Amino acid sequence: MCGIIGYAGNKNPMPILIGGLKRLEYRGYDSAGIAILNAKKFYVQKSVGKIEQLVKKISYRQNIEGGVGIGHTRWATHGKPTLTNAHPHNSCDNKIWVAHNGIIENYKDIKNQLIAKGHKFKSETDTEVIPHLIEEYSKKGFDFKKSVRLAMSDIKGTYALTIINSDEPDKLIAVKNSSPLLIGITKNGQYFAASDATALLTHTREIIYLNDKEMAVLNGTGYQIETISGQSINKKIEVLKEKEESIQKSGFPHFMLKEIFEEPEAVENAINGRLIYKEGTAKLGGIETIKNELSKINHLTITACGTAYLAGQIGEYLVEELSGVSSKVEYASEFRYKNPVIKNNSAILAVSQSGETADTLAALYEAERKNCLTLGIVNVVGSSIARQTHAGIYNHAGPEIGVASTKVFVSQLSVLILLALFLGRQRNLSLTEGKKIIMELSSLPKKMRQILKQAPLIKKMARKYSKFDNFLYLGRKYNMPIAYEGALKLKEISYVHAEGYGAGEMKHGPIAMINKNFPSVAIATTNSVYEKMESNIEEIKARNGRVLAIATKGNKKITKLADDVIYIPKTLEPLEPILTVLPLHLFAYYFGVLRGFDVDKPRNLAKSVTVE
Ligand code: F6R
Repeated sequence: MCGIIGYAGNKNPMPILIGGLKRLEYRGYDSAGIAILNAKKFYVQKSVGKIEQLVKKISYRQNIEGGVGIGHTRWATHGKPTLTNAHPHNSCDNKIWVAHNGIIENYKDIKNQLIAKGHKFKSETDTEVIPHLIEEYSKKGFDFKKSVRLAMSDIKGTYALTIINSDEPDKLIAVKNSSPLLIGITKNGQYFAASDATALLTHTREIIYLNDKEMAVLNGTGYQIETISGQSINKKIEVLKEKEESIQKSGFPHFMLKEIFEEPEAVENAINGRLIYKEGTAKLGGIETIKNELSKINHLTITACGTAYLAGQIGEYLVEELSGVSSKVEYASEFRYKNPVIKNNSAILAVSQSGETADTLAALYEAERKNCLTLGIVNVVGSSIARQTHAGIYNHAGPEIGVASTKVFVSQLSVLILLALFLGRQRNLSLTEGKKIIMELSSLPKKMRQILKQAPLIKKMARKYSKFDNFLYLGRKYNMPIAYEGALKLKEISYVHAEGYGAGEMKHGPIAMINKNFPSVAIATTNSVYEKMESNIEEIKARNGRVLAIATKGNKKITKLADDVIYIPKTLEPLEPILTVLPLHLFAYYFGVLRGFDVDKPRNLAKSVTVE
């Protein structure tokens, strides 16, 4: 959701900005633009649609020898995706250009005040007030940095900003508050600002994460970091470990398919080095310091959004079953606005791939305000949620580029199993049970690879069902959230209507929809609720509904009930979701591709939802 790249140095900023914007494409956008400043001359270009449209409008051969530049991919919030609304935006005197990710909440008031002072606005965006506000302070005689600072004290909201100003043409100022922004540095005078590190991997691995209300001033000879109030700060330089291949398609037609095929590896990376077989427990370095507090908690609230929320739903069952600690999953977007009751000895766990989801972050702020212990399961190292929590566990799944989350979902499930196991072993879970879970968890990647071998069959199924426009996904217990996840993935990627339902709820409404044109995907693995699922399938068949079942290998009986069956290997019931979700991810992927959609960048969606 909006991507920002900024550059200060002695190279031509044009290809650096365009390359960075391409790397940020996965975040989701509908228009793009750049502004470069060299020797007091601006080169500005914007376009609606894909970066390729922007590239067509500019010439790389334009020989710009160094300077400062800012680039932006915009995901429309205030105003349609038009050329006029595309960033960067400028001041009346054309000296100040700004790219912004976030929302300026009081922009209407500021805009009216600026209009009264004679400022002319072109766009419908909230962002446009920023260059005009900075201009207003510059006119009063303040230098660039001070004008930015004063402008920041006037605005309310969330922002990651990159700003350039032809009055001080060697400077790029980057400011952060609640929206993601980091700085990249090199030893040879190249400085960068970006929404995330993937945009910078080809240039540098040395990163400085900005905190809220901090700003960086970059130029070709160095960088300074200060708080918005002007206090200079010394920040730690972190070195990224991500491999370049992790952001390449590596021969796969789409990132989504590559990432589905990386699901077994994502489980391995989540559990490697974290299993202590002889103690039947997990070793989780990130929560080691608070293990005594964790041994005393009697409630765990899990909060997240979207697919991460669905992982949290399974987490709720896992924590209760393995540890006996009461647990509840809550949408972060609800938790932040209701008045959540936080009892003594409870903790909140935020689950997030990006670590930047605005609602999840806000839920954590709310919990912290009520003195609750905060934990995180986060994939992106150094992200806002990772830094906001008291302690946490990283997924180590590597960058996830496909907008629809796949490999990180199974990674989240793996970490939730480890956490539930850890809490369980602190309480009443027996050593034997703990060892059984560890053994089974370790065998999952192999079983997942067996499922992946069935990709051609799943593709065939997707083709067979691709003529339908409505789907019901059903599951019970641990597989109920998998029914939701299967449906969510199908609708995101293919734009067909798919509803996930707890199968026990089918008779209370959705059964009314069933007919021969409304197929159901039923997760009917051999477990404690299998017979119940079998009855649901019978009920659908009795109403001429078609059924595609996900069943456990060896269940021949189901072929007589369901129209089509995809088999998965047997595992422990609490671990089943890691296997049952895999065919559903593949099904959604092939379905979307067959319908001719860009599955890596589904319409209207953003990878990192940094505004609420
Ligand atoms: C769906 C999907 C989203 C995210 C949600 C939360 O495929 O990817 O529903 O799961 O936006 O994102 P994170 O995990 O980054 O907090």
